[in-house]
Amino acid sequence: MRLKQIRFVLILTVALCCIPATRFYEIDLPLFRFLNGQNHVDPLSLHLSGEFVESNLGTAQEADGSVTVRMIAEQYLFIPHCILVPAGVPIRLRVTSADAVHSLSFSDTNYAVKVVPGSVSQARLQFPHAGEYKMSCREFCGAGHYAMRSRLVVVSRDQFPKLQAGERGSCAAR
Ligand code: CUA
Repeated sequence: MRLKQIRFVLILTVALCCIPATRFYEIDLPLFRFLNGQNHVDPLSLHLSGEFVESNLGTAQEADGSVTVRMIAEQYLFIPHCILVPAGVPIRLRVTSADAVHSLSFSDTNYAVKVVPGSVSQARLQFPHAGEYKMSCREFCGAGHYAMRSRLVVVSRDQFPKLQAGERGSCAAR
């Protein structure tokens, strides 16, 4: 009888200690990451570490010549505020949200990418000609939703490699 009581108290103690612990990072975050694959990101630490730190946002030319665009959507803007990409080149877009659900759309195209906090949305884009597109949010995300707009500037395929890395990354300063 006594042994049973001790065992009961022991199990209860372990349960009371472990169940809350799983709610905090130690146990279920790695599990969540495993289930969610590589597309999991912590929306609270986007600016601090990992793929979506500020210096890594914008357009990057990869070693194999392909182009990747990384962005953050947050109430009520897209970061960077202006994206510059080359025409006629497949572009890999990786975007995540720092807060609510947003939807990134490009004027005059069918492209629309749902952006959810906690995960990375990926899309393949290609723009045939140089020009300018409006990027806007299509998912109602709060009071400033209708003002959540940015620009995408497409430059010719020849011009793009001639730009400095900083100019390629974003056209927000233009
Ligand atoms: Cu973001 Cu609507």
